[in-house]
Formats: sequence, structure tokens, C-alpha cells
Amino acid sequence: GEVHRSVQELAASLGALPPEFVRPEHEQPAATTFPGGAAPDAPVIDLLEPGCGARVAAAAREWGLFQVVNHGVPSPVVAELQRVGRAFFSLPREEKERYAMDPASGRIEGYGTRLQRDLEGKKTWNDFFFHVVAPPAKVDHGAWPRSPAGYREANEAYCHHVQRLARGLLGHLSLGLGLEEGAMAEAFGGGAQVFLQKINLYPPCPQPELTLGVAPHTDMSTLTVLVPNEVQGLQVFKDGHWYDANYVPDALIIHIGDQIEASVPMQNTIFSNGAYKAVLHRTTVSKEKTRMSWPVFVEPPVELVVGPHPQLVAGESPAKYKARKYKEYQHCKINKLPM
Ligand code: SIN
Ligand code: FE2
Repeated sequence: GEVHRSVQELAASLGALPPEFVRPEHEQPAATTFPGGAAPDAPVIDLLEPGCGARVAAAAREWGLFQVVNHGVPSPVVAELQRVGRAFFSLPREEKERYAMDPASGRIEGYGTRLQRDLEGKKTWNDFFFHVVAPPAKVDHGAWPRSPAGYREANEAYCHHVQRLARGLLGHLSLGLGLEEGAMAEAFGGGAQVFLQKINLYPPCPQPELTLGVAPHTDMSTLTVLVPNEVQGLQVFKDGHWYDANYVPDALIIHIGDQIEASVPMQNTIFSNGAYKAVLHRTTVSKEKTRMSWPVFVEPPVELVVGPHPQLVAGESPAKYKARKYKEYQHCKINKLPM
């Protein structure tokens, strides 16, 4: 048959889902999603409301995921980020492929697809683009889309707001542990923190009940700040169940990532109110609609050592969270090596 080089292209030509996309039954969304109606909702937090900081900290403990409204990122800035991302994915195949990432040769920014099998030999229903947006010293504009016009300005404007929002959220999370407001941002690299923009594309899928857009995972980041489009798809694992994170217009979705969990560990914390946890999540896809999302991964610089925060650990660090450079963490996780 014809060779397809992205999920987008494959989707346009299909009647049924190819077998390599079919998840094992215990992962199929139709069989494993908690029925709506009775399902609890991840918290939606108004960042202008008094007491919102305590709600952020509680959500980070109980869910590891929450949505924020009145977050200060103007709607037109978000709309423009979405417009240029959609326009990029509407370009002809040859043009998108000029940006192809190639991790084997060290090019980890650019256009890619889950049409390649993962380490388990499976595929998921997702194409994507990755590029660093901050700090300036780590940005390679050569890797960014040069089309559509306005791409760069839109992403820079949005990033500027995300940096402010991330600072505020880390501040709430620090205060929630009895630390100084700037403690966590400082521990994760301060102004050297890296902001990695991803665009996810999930084309319409002939049998969405059998597959996933992104397989279950936790993010390696400290925090992830995500703009969804209006097509429902993100799901959160909590207390043994998969729940939909419902689409809330104008909200941003915040994920607690592995680096926060590692720096605020469960055992041996001085504070009895306990840990923040990285959220296990996955995405479903739709039969008729294209889902997109724009996560920004807030990450420590790769050379920075991350481990249990010294002010939070009484006595020995729990062995589960060995302090190590962020790049070593990434290497182990990506290659599924023992942590
Ligand atoms: C992801 O976890 O990488 C994607 C989440 C989403 O698309 O909502
Ligand atoms: Fe994720």
C-alpha cells in the first residue's frame, strides 16, 4: 500500500483503524472511562479569588491537575497561538516535513509523529511539533515554523504570559508547603528555567473507542500549562479511575509534573500536609473532529540537579527520589531505564 508519513495523512485515507493503533483492552477508552454524570471534576480555580493559592496547593495534592480561569493571559493571545498552530498543520506535507525532528541525530525540536512505533511497538493517534520558547539563550528560531506569518510573534507573546503564570503558580505551591514564595522557582533554575512549546494534532479517527491520542504518562516537567481546543479528550487518572477533564472555555489546564513530585516527596517531609503528585493522564480522539492542544512544559535547565527540596526533607532522602541532573532524569525516563 501507500506509505503515509503522518497520522494526519493516514487519517485522510482510512476506513478502519489499523491494528497497530488498537490499545490493549485495559487501555481502550470505551472500556475504561468512568461514565460521565457521576464523575468528579478536576478543580477549576479562579486565580483572582482570595484563597486561590490554598486551592492550587490542595489540587496539586489531590489531583495533580487543575484548570485555571482569570489567569491573566488575554483571550486574543491564546486565540492567535491557536490560529498559527492550526495554520502550520494545514500546510502541505512537503512543507511540514522540512521541519522534521530527528532525535537519532540530536534534532529534538521540530515536526514529528507517533506513526513511528514506541518502545512497546505501538502507535498512537498523534502528530506534533516541539520547540523551545524561552530562555532566549536556548531558543533556536531555525527550528520554528517560518509559516504562517506571525507564528513567531504569537508564540513569543503567549510565552511571556506563561512565564508570569508559572511564577505565580510555583509561588502558590511554595507557600502551600510553608516555604518562601520564590523557593520552588529558585530550586528549578529561576530565570534559567526552560519553556518548551508543543503543539499536538489529533486528526479525526475512524474508531476512537479503540485507541489513544497519547498513551498514559506523567510529564517530566515541573509544571505543564496547556491550551486545549474545544474537542474533549484529556483524561486524568485518580483513585483507580480515568476521568474526563472537561473542556472549560478560556481555562488553561495545569499539570503537576515529575520534577515537582520529586522535589516535594511523600515521605520524610517536615510538613504533615504531604506531597504534590505528578498527574497520570492520557488523551482520547474523536471520530469527526480534529483535536489540538498546546502544552508548554516548564523544565529545569538540563544540567540542574533536582531532588527532594532540602527544606522539606528531615533526615535521609527517600530512595524513590534520587537527586540527579534533569538530563539524567530525561534519559532514564525516555529509554525506560530503572530510575
Ligand atoms: C499530553 O499530555 O501530551 C497531551 C495532553 C492533551 O493533548 O491534552
Ligand atoms: Fe502530558
